[in-house]
Amino acid sequence: MANENEMELARQDEYLEKCRTHVAAFQAEYGRQPKACVTTFGCQMNARDSEKLSGILAAAGYDLTDSEEEADFVLYNTCTVRDNANQRVYGRLGYLNSLKKKKPHLKIALCGCMMQEQAVIDKIQKSYRFVDLIFGTHNLFQFAKLLSETLVSEKMVVDVWEGTDKILENLPVKRKYYYKSGVNIMFGCNNFCSYCIVPYVRGRERSREPEEIISEIEKLAEDGVVEVMLLGQNVNSYGKNLEHPITFAELLRRVDRVEGLRRIRFMTSHPKDLSDELIEVMRQSTKISRHLHLPLQSGSNRILEAMNRRYTKEQYLALVEKIRHAIPDIAITTDIIVGFPGETPEDVEETIDVVRRVQFDNAFTFIYSPRTGTPAAAMENQVPQERAHESFDRLLAAVQETARERAALLQGKVMEALVEEMNEQDPAFVTGRLSNNMLVHFKADRRLVGKFVMVALDACHGFYYTGRMVDQIGQSQHTRLGKMVDNQWLN
Ligand code: 5AD
Ligand code: SF4
Repeated sequence: MANENEMELARQDEYLEKCRTHVAAFQAEYGRQPKACVTTFGCQMNARDSEKLSGILAAAGYDLTDSEEEADFVLYNTCTVRDNANQRVYGRLGYLNSLKKKKPHLKIALCGCMMQEQAVIDKIQKSYRFVDLIFGTHNLFQFAKLLSETLVSEKMVVDVWEGTDKILENLPVKRKYYYKSGVNIMFGCNNFCSYCIVPYVRGRERSREPEEIISEIEKLAEDGVVEVMLLGQNVNSYGKNLEHPITFAELLRRVDRVEGLRRIRFMTSHPKDLSDELIEVMRQSTKISRHLHLPLQSGSNRILEAMNRRYTKEQYLALVEKIRHAIPDIAITTDIIVGFPGETPEDVEETIDVVRRVQFDNAFTFIYSPRTGTPAAAMENQVPQERAHESFDRLLAAVQETARERAALLQGKVMEALVEEMNEQDPAFVTGRLSNNMLVHFKADRRLVGKFVMVALDACHGFYYTGRMVDQIGQSQHTRLGKMVDNQWLN
């Protein structure tokens, strides 16, 4: 296996060499390095994939930019979980076409979940002929090869695989943040929730070997990463299909031991697979964040069954109670869909009842979007859009109310925040994230980005706080910044 991995990496290295030749030719012709822009749609997994794609582009000699206008190569990493994600891509393709008319050497590439759908490929081949490259989710590791082909081809290069067992380790990566990183622990999903297209576009569940994961995290920690987010569609079933099976809880125990790492997050947990062992590991750990994302989807047992979620409202509530009892300061967030086929106003009331009882710290609410090929899309009793919107508004009001109440509980507390970035609105402020995922804005110097600081949560603004940096006994600190940067408790 290791050998096969090395051979594939060597092959991709040869393609990278070819890409570098083209990049050198570009440089000779235009007198500058070519620029590449990777735009990500969708989830954290896509964001991580984009870091790998960016790593390959950088290794090929491209200068990475966030500006599509400046770019000579634009790559869209797409999402298809709901139809509006698809529509956004089509909309922006029109804009890329206008850029290409001004700059004919511009290469346009599309990859990710949306490209795993034949209907999408047909549409692009018919109506968006200016696209240069299409590939899917299973052959991302061959991007160097596909790039080298695209750079010399006059025709659209299309290479989409139906599936794969392969997990290629140690591809080049260009991280967006130097202090935090996503880490894939598994790919694909076996659950087949009846509304969800993910199992069709991401394939069957495959877990990475724990040794590979730990070694990647150790390297990241040596490189200055203090927070990792373990990524999988259903992390609670991690390791079940490995030759030597291990549980997700055991993996977390091992990640917890990695030196230098300060915070561990993970996403996403399916309620049906969340074990007592996991709750215990979370309870004992000082590194695992006090946050659990636990998608509910619906609070109605009839709808949960039609969704093939394999738990009931009562089981979900009991699970939450168990978690909150073991870890009282944990924040619980969720995903909810309204407008699923057959959903009645009474079903929506059941969902709202769960929202009120659980008191979610935050919830992402979605209007059901039929995805071709999924069982729910073929169900007869589709809910009219108007009614789905009405349900959505009712649900959102309940979610916002409970989220506000939960947020207010932190008022006046002093908590540790990881400074993530400069505040977009006011450059004198930074944005920090608490272990429970709450954001707090406070005055600080940009040198603190990537560092842990103690922050007093002074004012709750619904879903975020404004505050001020303090020392551990609660004294204001921002006036003594110069001294603080090297202070012990920052690290
Ligand atoms: N329609 C609406 N929302 C969906 N999700 C997944 N599939 C659909 C769909 N067809 C939501 C679920 C999932 C989140 C990532 O997206 O709530 O948890
Ligand atoms: Fe989709 Fe369900 Fe798998 Fe999540 S667990 S990716 S909702 S099929």
